[in-house]
Amino acid sequence: MNNQTVQETAKKDTAVKKYLNFINGEWVDSESGKYTQNTNPVNGEVLGEVVASTKADVEKAVQAAKEAQKKWRNVPAPERADFLYKVAYLLKERKEELAQVLTKEMGKVIAEARGEVQEAIDMAFYMAGEGRRMFGDTVPSELRNKFAMSVRVPVGIAGLITPWNFPIAIASWKSLPALVTGNAVVWKPASETPFLAGEFVKIYEEAGLPKGLVNLVYGSGSEVGNAIVEHPDVDIVSFTGSNEVGKKINGRAGELLKRTSLEMGGKNAVTVLEDADIDLAVDGIVWSAFGTSGQRCTACSRIIVHESVKEELEQKLMKRMEMLKLGDGLDESIDVGPVINRSSLEKIHEYVKIGKDEGAKLLKGGEIVTENGLDKGNFYAPTLFTNVKSDMRIAQEEIFGPVASIIPVKSLEEAIEVNNSVEFGLSSSIFTADVNRAFQAMRDLDTGIVYINAGTTGAEIHLPFGGTKGTGNGHRDSGVASLDVYTEWKSVYIDYSGKIQRAQIDNY
Ligand code: SIN
Repeated sequence: MNNQTVQETAKKDTAVKKYLNFINGEWVDSESGKYTQNTNPVNGEVLGEVVASTKADVEKAVQAAKEAQKKWRNVPAPERADFLYKVAYLLKERKEELAQVLTKEMGKVIAEARGEVQEAIDMAFYMAGEGRRMFGDTVPSELRNKFAMSVRVPVGIAGLITPWNFPIAIASWKSLPALVTGNAVVWKPASETPFLAGEFVKIYEEAGLPKGLVNLVYGSGSEVGNAIVEHPDVDIVSFTGSNEVGKKINGRAGELLKRTSLEMGGKNAVTVLEDADIDLAVDGIVWSAFGTSGQRCTACSRIIVHESVKEELEQKLMKRMEMLKLGDGLDESIDVGPVINRSSLEKIHEYVKIGKDEGAKLLKGGEIVTENGLDKGNFYAPTLFTNVKSDMRIAQEEIFGPVASIIPVKSLEEAIEVNNSVEFGLSSSIFTADVNRAFQAMRDLDTGIVYINAGTTGAEIHLPFGGTKGTGNGHRDSGVASLDVYTEWKSVYIDYSGKIQRAQIDNY
């Protein structure tokens, strides 16, 4: 690099980054003229600004989506899929760059950030393949000289409201199936992770996706989110986030007879039976409870253990937790990054106080970490409680931080009862060497995802993602199941008998 280039690069790096909305193929400001700041949870550094949009911006995005979708729905699905292949290759090419953006604005460690971008890449290839499948049924008609089949047709406009904990993976689980099935998208990303959303949309733009098909509108849930839910031309709202917001969306969308796909809270548990490989269980628990600082929807926050191996598990867990290094996730040696923001940090600490007051025994952690230069960030020590009772608040409510609670039990049956005693049903896991008990658990654990001899995290994109009870409303992200969210079924009958045949009357 010559001197002038070095100076130009430095100038570019110090300039305030500003992310605008993407509406009808153009990067545009909001008429609000207002901006919010994007900060790094590691140290509070301001990374840049992002427009604070209004209902009027959503209106423009929906109108653009409506126009674009009229043509897109008639583009053959394999041709739609060609754009998705381009998206996949661009994501692959930019994997490292995107992972860095993700770590800086969200805080997860770089290895996990790379893993998350890989999920989006996999999802793009997988959904591109759907362009040549998108199977319906052909079935025999009950009448002679008549043909019957079912085909998928797009719903229309998909409003996507996505979270900050998996800002590109979850956006890919929603936007790619929506597009390949012929819908247009209006997307409100989480306010905490706006840059990665902008970078993802740049990839859609560079892939040559026709204008108006993907529209990005930054802003708050109360302004932009609500406007998406309320808009009469938005046909389906796909949301991942808190239970509280999900219920409100579902209530309002229900009144408007609008489809919703909701993925909300979790209170996931790892069960460790007396015949389990304890070292393996320790690895699984540490990874799923403290990875991503406990901020995965599928994070393990309860450890249900047979009382005969409780002591051994506790000792081994504490030893492993000693080894966890907190810090800036851009440093490859770091295991646990910060939590997303100050209010989240305070909420986690509040739950730790609640746990102590409820009589649970704090084995490790339980504090905000400020040493070793971490005082400007949102760092919470990986925390372990034991002697927790299933009805305590720390065993029932979602904490969304690096806090896990050990609940001792006497049998597999009791473990399953405890596992199922919460209002959520996203993910569960069991460590056992007994195949019979593994199958019993697979059958009886009331969650959308079950792992045998692995932790509660690590969903793969070609399987349905979602949960039972308070976790969702019966829909699934990712996998072929996600096509159901963005399509209607159309049943088609073709009569080549040359006469009007009356089904149920003329067939016998
Ligand atoms: C999530 O929890 O949202 C991510 C998926 C996983 O790691 O299981």
